[in-house]
Amino acid sequence: MIPSHWYNIVPDLPAPPPPPLHPATRRPVGPGDLAPLFPMELIGQEVSGERFVAIPEEVLDVYRLWRPTPLLRARRLEKALGTPARIYYKYEGGSPAGSHKPNTAVPQAYYNAREGVRKLTTETGAGQWGSALAFACAQFGLECEVWMVRASYDQKPYRRSLMRVYGATVHASPSTVTKAGARVLADAPDSTGSLGIAISEAVEVAGAGEDVRYALGSVLNHVLLHQTVIGEEALAQLGEAPDVIIGCTGGGSNFAGLVFPFLREKLAGRIDPVIRAVEPAACPSFTRGVYAYDFGDTAGFTPLLKMHTLGHDFVPDPIHAGGLRYHGMSPLLSHMYELGMFEAVSRSQIECFEAGVRFARTEGIVPAPEPTHALAETIAEALRCKESGEAKVILTALCGHGHFDLAAYDRYLSGAMEDFALPQERIDEALARLPG
Ligand SMILES: Cc1ncc(COP(=O)(O)O)c(C=O)c1O
Repeated sequence: MIPSHWYNIVPDLPAPPPPPLHPATRRPVGPGDLAPLFPMELIGQEVSGERFVAIPEEVLDVYRLWRPTPLLRARRLEKALGTPARIYYKYEGGSPAGSHKPNTAVPQAYYNAREGVRKLTTETGAGQWGSALAFACAQFGLECEVWMVRASYDQKPYRRSLMRVYGATVHASPSTVTKAGARVLADAPDSTGSLGIAISEAVEVAGAGEDVRYALGSVLNHVLLHQTVIGEEALAQLGEAPDVIIGCTGGGSNFAGLVFPFLREKLAGRIDPVIRAVEPAACPSFTRGVYAYDFGDTAGFTPLLKMHTLGHDFVPDPIHAGGLRYHGMSPLLSHMYELGMFEAVSRSQIECFEAGVRFARTEGIVPAPEPTHALAETIAEALRCKESGEAKVILTALCGHGHFDLAAYDRYLSGAMEDFALPQERIDEALARLPG
């Protein structure tokens, strides 16, 4: 069954998360500050104190194209590993865009269309979010303009094609279309881009247009809220209590979507799983970033968000998991991490692709590069169970397929893939430019 409501974890937390601040006044932002960027319904959801938010019928109607999504037991992977652990994965790759991203793209497009918006702008890393929003805009008659991080634009031409099929306009970011992009290109003509830069470009264009708004694919509370359909379904589908829940984190939305309903049950004392976020070693905001107020974008257009950050102008190395190349992290998850509600680890890309190939050869699904991080950690956990003899129940989010990422798999298979060392000086240098 598709859930009838999204779950908002904020009222269940022991302490509320710190508010976003206006960069000039340093006071909490109000609805009026956000109105040039988002429709009122989403602004309301961003600060909502309601535990449950009803999913509109128009949104459910589109969700029915791929929801409910399957929860599968990875028996052949278990057997290949020789582990007593039971591994379950919630597969979101059956959506039209191939990932969990349409779970929020659809309601975002719906609320914007209902409030008379003509066009949505956005950024995309891997191209998953851009194609999800392009799909959703097509469903509700909106125009869509996407800034795609240069590294992914070059690595994933067919993601661009998919967005164009849905009717979107796609630019490589940094672009000369915006002042923010042109400024970056003036300093670094060969810039591979970052999500932070692409966000600046999309926000700049949305802010300048009367009937144009901006849509974000992760990080914000309303995005995490929409993704809780994943966890609500999994909670109903999983016939036993999980011991470990593992998800990858870029801005945190698929991880939050899976774990928030389970955390509700944990807070109520009904289950007690260990919950673990996995981030790329090349962009480790939880494990090597600081918890501080920072901009969500590179140019400094967004409100100041209290989050785990590597610094708003940190440009991660061009790993193939483009969706995980974000300098910051969801403020809500950052707050919950500080409260000790889950743990975080990092993994480098070669071991992740190794896990992705192992998964494909046993379970048959080729994972997107982002969830291979969760799979690498899941396999490691299952092998620890093999050592200890524990039959733990492990649940993970397989949040997208990798059919547009085969060039990256080719690089891995031919031995040409590289791991990037991230020297502390690079992090320190970007952190030195945090807003005071
Ligand atoms: C398939 C996939 N997984 C994960 C992510 C990371 O985002 P989030 O942490 O918000 O789930 C992305 C982002 O583009 C993605 O495309």
